[in-house]
Amino acid sequence: MQSEKVVIVTGGGSGIGRAAALRFARQGNKVLVTGRRPGPIEETMAGHANIAGLVADAASVEDAKRTIAKAVDTWGRLDALVNNAGAGAILPLADTTADRITDIFSVNVLGPSLLAAAALPHLKARRGTIVNVSSTFGHKPAAGRSHYAASKAALEHLTRCWALELAPLGIRVNAVAAGPTESGALTGMMGLSPEQAAEIKEQERARIPLGRRGVPNDVAEWIVRLAGPTSEWMTGQVIAVDGGLGLA
Ligand SMILES: NC(=O)c1ccc[n+]([C@@H]2O[C@H](COP(=O)([O-])OP(=O)(O)OC[C@H]3O[C@@H](n4cnc5c(N)ncnc54)[C@H](OP(=O)(O)O)[C@@H]3O)[C@@H](O)[C@H]2O)c1
Repeated sequence: MQSEKVVIVTGGGSGIGRAAALRFARQGNKVLVTGRRPGPIEETMAGHANIAGLVADAASVEDAKRTIAKAVDTWGRLDALVNNAGAGAILPLADTTADRITDIFSVNVLGPSLLAAAALPHLKARRGTIVNVSSTFGHKPAAGRSHYAASKAALEHLTRCWALELAPLGIRVNAVAAGPTESGALTGMMGLSPEQAAEIKEQERARIPLGRRGVPNDVAEWIVRLAGPTSEWMTGQVIAVDGGLGLA
């Protein structure tokens, strides 16, 4: 990416979001990371002087406005929005409740929509870009993860619809669909015990054609590329970075 862009990475306190924030920052860009807990944000900020932080919930209407305002107030512009914060659960249909569905869709569908809408005037001014972070399960069915998968499918389709709608403004919209990646996601957002997480990791590794789970940098590299000048003629694409899992 060209130096001195202003980038927002939601959920930048850990995992894929932190790796993307550090990559953007090391290339000379200014980065605002968000998350609900201050501790992880502070750790990411400690990784590079170009990174600022804001405690903000990606699923909140007010916080979406505050997030965009913070970047613009700090650096005077906004070039890229990375909708990385995500929610999910192993949630068989029999255990489904309205609250749990709402939690997942609020973070994975409502949040990126609110942030993108609030960012729009600023992205228009800079001919900026949006990168959404989806999952292999946004296009590959998975038993027991239907609402997570459906929320990411919605995010992938929002990516294509926004790409068409915003192309006349010079705004590009793409997504990275990550495969199973080493992060806190299984014990964090998926709510599994360490033992359950270890079992699922092994099952996933065995199914991935390239024989390993990803690391955050595998995915971050493509987030940064899609936001940057080498992708100037790409929009509406969902790039699978998943060791081939989507094919298996
Ligand atoms: N790891 C995988 O295997 C995998 C695979 C496919 C797709 N993905 C996607 O990749 C993205 C990043 O996940 P990850 O694996 O890096 O997970 P992670 O390590 O758990 O990081 C998620 C980050 O998002 C933040 N976050 C969660 N809900 C938020 C909210 N409502 N508002 C603001 N921040 C929020 C969390 O911080 P707080 O808790 O402090 O808010 C955390 O720092 C997600 O969209 C996920 O669906 C991950």
